[in-house]
Amino acid sequence: PTSADLTPAGELVLAGLTATDLARDFGTPAFVMDEKHFRDRARLFRDSFTEAFAAVGAEVDVYYAGKSFLSVAVARWAREEGLRVDTCTGGELAVALRAGVPGAEIGLHGNNKSDAEISRAIEAGVGRVVVDSFAEIDRVAELARDAGRDSSTRVPVMVRVTTGIHAGGHEFISTAHEDQKFGVSLTGGQALAALRAVLDHPELELLGAHTHIGSQIQDAAAFEANARKMLALRADLETETGYLLPELDLGGGYGIAYVPSETPIDVPALARDLAGAVGAVCAELGTTVPRISIEPGRSVVGSTTVTLYTVGVVKPVTLDDGSVRTYVSVDGGMSDNIRPALYGAEYTARLANRSGSAETVRARVVGKHCESGDIVISDIELPSDVTPGDLLAVPATGAYGRSMASNYNHVLRPPVVAVADGAARVIVRRETEDDLLALDVG
Ligand code: LLP
Repeated sequence: PTSADLTPAGELVLAGLTATDLARDFGTPAFVMDEKHFRDRARLFRDSFTEAFAAVGAEVDVYYAGKSFLSVAVARWAREEGLRVDTCTGGELAVALRAGVPGAEIGLHGNNKSDAEISRAIEAGVGRVVVDSFAEIDRVAELARDAGRDSSTRVPVMVRVTTGIHAGGHEFISTAHEDQKFGVSLTGGQALAALRAVLDHPELELLGAHTHIGSQIQDAAAFEANARKMLALRADLETETGYLLPELDLGGGYGIAYVPSETPIDVPALARDLAGAVGAVCAELGTTVPRISIEPGRSVVGSTTVTLYTVGVVKPVTLDDGSVRTYVSVDGGMSDNIRPALYGAEYTARLANRSGSAETVRARVVGKHCESGDIVISDIELPSDVTPGDLLAVPATGAYGRSMASNYNHVLRPPVVAVADGAARVIVRRETEDDLLALDVG
């Protein structure tokens, strides 16, 4: 946060509300989400990409990747800002539908969709089912027939393609290299064969090809290289079959800054560079520019949210070399943010209820779970007078925080509180013990 976000006493202010007031009214831990910031990010993607691709004669759809964080309110905001919604399970699809997002503006992904998920998507009239394997092509066709679809009411389908481009912040979130579970590979003509297989099914409409190379990518050049491969595939398909794919989906994965040393992807620059590259390749190939879609998640929602924790036990621990590390325990941890444990992800934090002393200590912010790897921030300087009852704010927790939250140790998952113009409202309520116990039927 900048100094503009602090009161003279050093209290953090979020959309006009102090952290102290928010913690008092909603408890901690809590995800506090800036609604205006979310809407601004959504619009930035829509406007930047629309404008950049209009310059090369193409239209763009921006799908908000719901896996990063989805709730009924957020799906509505996304839609109000002109975004569609990308889902990858029946659960995400249900949230988008509950929010009133029309089926035609929803996409369904997944490498192992159930028949029920596919049928629900067909019934909802989703704008696209992104098929992930040869076997799934036949299955979607069969379920489309079961639903009474035929050549006049075809189900729109994209094929997810693995382009071999290796990018992304961590192996677990890189998705387009060869040895992983997603998509159909470009190698050996497999992707071409999958596209042709879709064309062979009268109840399927081949909308295009889809690719997503990974997540938290800082290197914009990887997206361009990927787009080139997809355009070449489109040209090959046209040569072989005469069918020109109307659309290409270039996925999401745009990186954000978690800590000050990181640089977020510059969205307008990315859009311009990508549109320029796509336009140039199409001109070389002598073909029209396809409709383009993208699926950003993290880069829309990540920076909108701050997690507020209350500090509990503060414990100085003497290390082998005689130095001291202060363990600062907070009232959440790996159940509301698994990313440090899972990916070695880095975060920063600051006191949110006061400035604290200028003198700092070497600290480690840890959670309340029965696991030593339950670390929020491995190494951070905090005011040396940090004390139980202080509030700690961890920014950039909007993506893959609440959405990957668990009930480990029967901890209750935190609420998401939306703040805008000095007002706050709960958009996902805090779990209760009754919620937890409702599942125990024995
Ligand atoms: N589209 C597809 C097909 C995806 O698989 C993903 C992310 C996205 C879009 C959105 O990617 P984004 O723009 O949010 O990077 N849990 C991990 C991230 C997993 C991403 C999985 N797929 C994390 O916390 O870093």
